[in-house]
Amino acid sequence: MLRTLHNYECLRRVTTLIPGINCQNPVLGNLDIITCGINKDAGVDAYQAFFQALCGLCKIFEKQRIFRFWMAFEPIVVFYKPETVETILSSNTVLTKARQYDLLSPWLGYGLLTSGGNKWRLRRKLLTPSFHFRILEDFLPIMSEHLIVFVDLMRKQTLVNNGIVDDITPYITRCALDIICETAMGIKMDSQIHLDSPYVKAIHQTGELFLLRMLRPWLWNDFIYRQTPNGKKFFNNMDILHGFTDNVIKERKRELLDEINRNDKCFITNNETNSDHRRRQAFLDSLLSEHFRNPEFTEEDIREEVDTFMFEGHDTTSMAISWTLHLIGRDQSVQDKCHQELDTIFDGTDGDRRPLTMNDLREMKYLEACIKEALRLFPSVPFIGRQLNEDININGHSVPKGVTCLLFLYQLHRDPECFPQPEVYRPDRFLDRENMTRHPFAYVPFSAGPRNCIGQKFALLEEKALLATILRNFRIRSLDTRDVIKVAPEMVIRPKTPIRMEFVSRKL
Ligand code: HEM
Repeated sequence: MLRTLHNYECLRRVTTLIPGINCQNPVLGNLDIITCGINKDAGVDAYQAFFQALCGLCKIFEKQRIFRFWMAFEPIVVFYKPETVETILSSNTVLTKARQYDLLSPWLGYGLLTSGGNKWRLRRKLLTPSFHFRILEDFLPIMSEHLIVFVDLMRKQTLVNNGIVDDITPYITRCALDIICETAMGIKMDSQIHLDSPYVKAIHQTGELFLLRMLRPWLWNDFIYRQTPNGKKFFNNMDILHGFTDNVIKERKRELLDEINRNDKCFITNNETNSDHRRRQAFLDSLLSEHFRNPEFTEEDIREEVDTFMFEGHDTTSMAISWTLHLIGRDQSVQDKCHQELDTIFDGTDGDRRPLTMNDLREMKYLEACIKEALRLFPSVPFIGRQLNEDININGHSVPKGVTCLLFLYQLHRDPECFPQPEVYRPDRFLDRENMTRHPFAYVPFSAGPRNCIGQKFALLEEKALLATILRNFRIRSLDTRDVIKVAPEMVIRPKTPIRMEFVSRKL
């Protein structure tokens, strides 16, 4: 106890030297000021206030280029300038996730996103081949099947509702969920057809509850949290989420065992051909084959990875696609350029008939710039948190071991030094000379360095395939201006208000 107090006092003294706001409240730290009275139950708005306050503080501490605040007993240092973000992300030693990620452990356990040390290294090595270029190429026909269903649903809207879609995000989310389930897990879910997925609802609610809990230090203890109404809701959602992923694993395990018995061949032997095959297995098959081979790799180990990839693999991409559609639908000159590019690639004549190829996707340079620019304004993951295991020096400030580093990507991507007129949606930023000369850490929607996003290529492939398919078939229009759509910066950055769109079939 004395040692803890002594460590805390040392940490407090050193971090006080970093620019920041004074701490009046020894229990809440600065949370009471920056969430405008967190004690009043402000619901999710407490988190909105927190987000707005952080944006404001980045402006106040613009010259200092970092600042510090206290979240209860924890000193947090915020990074929102390219050179400071580079120090953290390019380090081979600052790899431990922030303690706040522990609040996700009842859901994601300690899978690839949340684990550290040797466990993370071994898992990363095991799972990296599952996102190899060759595997992604095999995913394209599966994605295309789900895109056909999506286009049919939109066509129905043009017949029954004059092409008006009251909120595009749930449609995109269900399509992305079907894609991740069938590509990575090998399971058909068909949530685009069977609407109302309890799994999707539970994910949204869990994200909101996680953030509310993070801002209330007295609820960090699991036992106390379980006694509260929100805690009960949270753990109820855990049952739904785990029940769903348990079924996915069981079903694929049964299919694989049947396949092994039928073919009378061993899926898990170590001869040359099979080890080659194993190196390139899709995600869940690769986890299952590790489980068959190594009894220490349990079903629990599989589940924490399946939970992680099911969540990361659809929620991030569906938000990114929804925002991109909204932004393209607001700017008809940007949309014209996308149509021109697609008409050139597909000869302007074949509508949605010719299936997409990897070569087609590679040629979509302008569409790629549209996606990148949307991810600049609305990075699906707005924050990255790391724990310092050693002292570091940033811009002449000593940041001590034990501090939590919060990389604020939303604000980093709005730095006017790197992105003039930062609020303007201008895809050309990613095509002209400006793109070549920009600081390499000014734009990192997929993070960077050893703990970057393992699903980055998958995400870009899915985004391009879905957006290209929509734009080959429709002219779109966003029915609301940008200021009407409120941002909910939860674990992923969601539109808080519905994204209303109009879809008009293109005649080719
Ligand atoms: C637009 C889509 C996506 C964006 C913007 C995105 C962004 C990110 C970011 C910023 C991180 C670092 C998070 C942190 O350090 O806290 C990350 C990590 C991760 N992402 Fe993504 N992601 C996307 C899609 C995906 C997809 C499709 C998958 C899986 C198929 C995925 C799986 C992961 C995993 C497992 C990690 C943890 C990697 C590690 O620590 O080794 N992500 N992602």
